[in-house]
This record gives sequence, structure tokens and C-alpha cells, in this order.
Amino acid sequence: MNSPILPGHPHFSYRDNALFAEDVRVSELARSHGTPLFVYSKAAMLSALASYQRGFAGRDAQICYAMKANSSLAVLQVFARAGCGFDIVSSGELERVQAAGGDVKKVIFSGVGKTRAEMRQALLAGIGCFNVESEAELDVLSQEALALKLRAPVSIRVNPNVDPKTHPYISTGLKGNKFGVAHEDALRIYQHAASLAGLQVVGIDCHIGSQITEVTPYLDAMDRVLDLVAAIEAAGITLAHIDFGGGLGINYNNDTPPEAEVLWRQLLEKLDARGYGGKKLMIEPGRSLVGNAGICVSEVLYLKPGEQKNFCIIDAAMNDLPRPAMYQAFHAIVPVSLAPSQVETTPYDVVGPVCESGDWIGHDRNLNVAAGDYLAVMSAGAYCMSMSSNYNTRGRAAELLVEGDSAQLIRARESAADTFRDEVLLP
Ligand code: LLP
Repeated sequence: MNSPILPGHPHFSYRDNALFAEDVRVSELARSHGTPLFVYSKAAMLSALASYQRGFAGRDAQICYAMKANSSLAVLQVFARAGCGFDIVSSGELERVQAAGGDVKKVIFSGVGKTRAEMRQALLAGIGCFNVESEAELDVLSQEALALKLRAPVSIRVNPNVDPKTHPYISTGLKGNKFGVAHEDALRIYQHAASLAGLQVVGIDCHIGSQITEVTPYLDAMDRVLDLVAAIEAAGITLAHIDFGGGLGINYNNDTPPEAEVLWRQLLEKLDARGYGGKKLMIEPGRSLVGNAGICVSEVLYLKPGEQKNFCIIDAAMNDLPRPAMYQAFHAIVPVSLAPSQVETTPYDVVGPVCESGDWIGHDRNLNVAAGDYLAVMSAGAYCMSMSSNYNTRGRAAELLVEGDSAQLIRARESAADTFRDEVLLP
């Protein structure tokens, strides 16, 4: 029997009580590659992308995958080969795009703190656009471009001051965030940008936050941005593109974000109604392209019953899966082999081996488990491996990409020696 695990994870399912990633049995992957182990579904990535592509059918639109969500080279290859550009936030990410064979002309460079060296590297590479986040950055970018006898294509990130209704750490479009320029200052800053010889103004952008599950904040942000587009163009500055950022949420825990296609149908209606339907559109989705395309498989090391709590200690930890510790984020945790349905479960706090009370993966999860069993932490394709660390000198997990009935190793497990290879002993 083939049964889905959770809505939002169509490419992971149980067949005869065994968890499959596409057509591959997850327990076999865990046995042959060890744990913790990230397993990604290529079909899940491409189907998430296809939802955006359907939404933009017939439009001049560029999808720039926000690679901070998962910057593993093979993942970048999947999106590059499907025609995506990339939203980057460092020269390191630029080098990853180049290493993965991505099209540098389709790269946009976001972030509040680009260094001069990063600007030069991106200018020489010939990226598509700098998303500039402050007036001071405009001046520096213009100087660097002039020194190279180039003109930097720029868009200014405006802060539309709308509440994305998400976790405070991942909302970025409100006053009081460090991101973007204030709505009321935007026109003046655009005029300043247009006066700088090293810059070529090409667009406008906004990004209001992450894990957004409602349409309204997007519609409000679009209205605010289009008001600015009108004012900026009335001042004689032409904007070739509008970039609406990323932020669309995924289903972690009964979340009900709109499908990308549905969201964009509504947004495009507004764009058309306000007379901007012919503009080139850019977007920067991250999580919604990869989040539910990945799981982290972990082995149960010990069960530790307690007076107040029972602990299920697994071999994945906050260094592999930092989102619960950082944002109190919820990730579903499911068995890799399902027990018969009537079996009793016990509530556990699922925790890792790291020496911190904050090292938890899930609280109060009802599980039927024994030491040696495998568990799958769901929705682990975004902001897990890319935010992982070597804390406690734990090597980073291995990563596999599944396609149909085959699984390819895309990142070898890091050894302890790898983690201190670049350190220097005292003489
Ligand atoms: N564009 C910009 C300028 C961004 O800052 C971000 C994410 C994105 C696009 C992509 O957003 P997405 O579509 O993935 O929501 N580590 C946090 C999320 C941080 C998001 C940072 N910016 C988490 O694990 O929830």
C-alpha cells in the first residue's frame, strides 16, 4: 500500500510501512551511507519550481533561486539546468553558482553588507543586478564600478512596511528591520542613484519575510511597491524590472500556504489591474523550492525515560538541524519503518547529542521507537544543511539526491579531520 506521509510531501511516502523517497527505500540509504543523512528528492524540487513556472506562463519572468536555503552544488545544478537564476548574498555564493555552471548574468546580489571586494568580484563576473540596501552602499558601488570602468546594474530594496505575520527573526519588511530603504526615502534615494555615473538603475525590489502563509501581505507589499514605481517613473527614472523577493512558506505543521501558482495568479491580477503587467518580473524564492524536498534521516541512539520527560536521543543534532533551537521551529518527525497501527506510543522529547539544552529537534512527539530505529525529520531541505555547523566537532552530514529509483551521493560525510584541516598548530 502506498500512503503519503504528510500533505506537502508528495515525493515521500510509505509503501508497505516503509518510507520511500521517490522510488528509493530510505532505510537502505541510511544503512549504506550512515546517519545523519540528508535525502533530497529531485522531482520534489522540480515540481515546486513548476508551480511557479505555471504561475508565470506567458510572462517575462525570471526565477532566481535564493540559494541560501540550500546551496549544495548539485542542488544548484538542478535549478540552473531548469533555467533558474540565483539570488546570492555573498561572493562565496557567487563562486558556488559558477562552480555549478549557473548563468552569472541571471544572478542578483542581495544583502545589507556587501564588501568592496565582493562588489568587484561580482562586477567582473558580470552579474545581472545588485539589490542595494542603503544609500551608503550606492556610493561605494558606484566608486567600485567606475574604478573598473563599468556600470553596475542596480535595483534598490525598498521596505514596504507590511507585516508578513511570521516569526520575528524571519520578518524583514517592517520598519525597524535592518533591510532595505524606507518607503518614504525611496524616491530621493532613486534620484541619487540615477545621478551616480557608476550605476545603471534597472529595477526595484522588496522582500518582506520568510515562511509567509497568507496572500494578503504580498498583495499589500505589491501595492506599496507599485506606488513607488509610479513615483520613480514619474521622476523620469525607468525601471526595467520589479523583483518581489521570496518568502512563500511551506507546510511544516498543518500550515496552509497558497500554491505558488495560486499566489502568483492573484498577484499578477493586481499587477495587470494597475497597469504594470508588461514589466519584467523577478522573484527570489528559497524555502518553497527546496524545503519539502528534503528529509534528515537519523538513528535513535538511546531512550531515556524520566520522571518529567522521556528523551529520545538521536544522532542528528542542532548543528545539523538548527531551526528548532534558533526559531522554535517545528519539523515533523516520522519513523522510517511504520509500526502496525494499533501499537502504543510514548511522548518523547527528541534531542541530539550536543551539550546544550537548546539541542532539541522536537518536543512531546508521540513515537513508538527503540534504539537502532531510524527516524526522518521532515521539511529539512531548506535552511538545514546550509545553516549547519561543526559545533562539538561534529562533521557535517552526508547528502543524497534521489531521482526515481536511484540515489546519488552529492556531499560526502565530513570527517573530524576535515573539520580541523585548516587549523594551525603552535610550533
Ligand atoms: N530574498 C531575500 C533578500 C532574502 O533575505 C531571503 C531569505 C530570500 C529571498 C528567500 O526567502 P525564502 O523564500 O526562503 O523564504 N533561516 C530562516 C530563514 C531566513 C530567510 C532569510 N532570507 C529559517 O530557517 O526559517
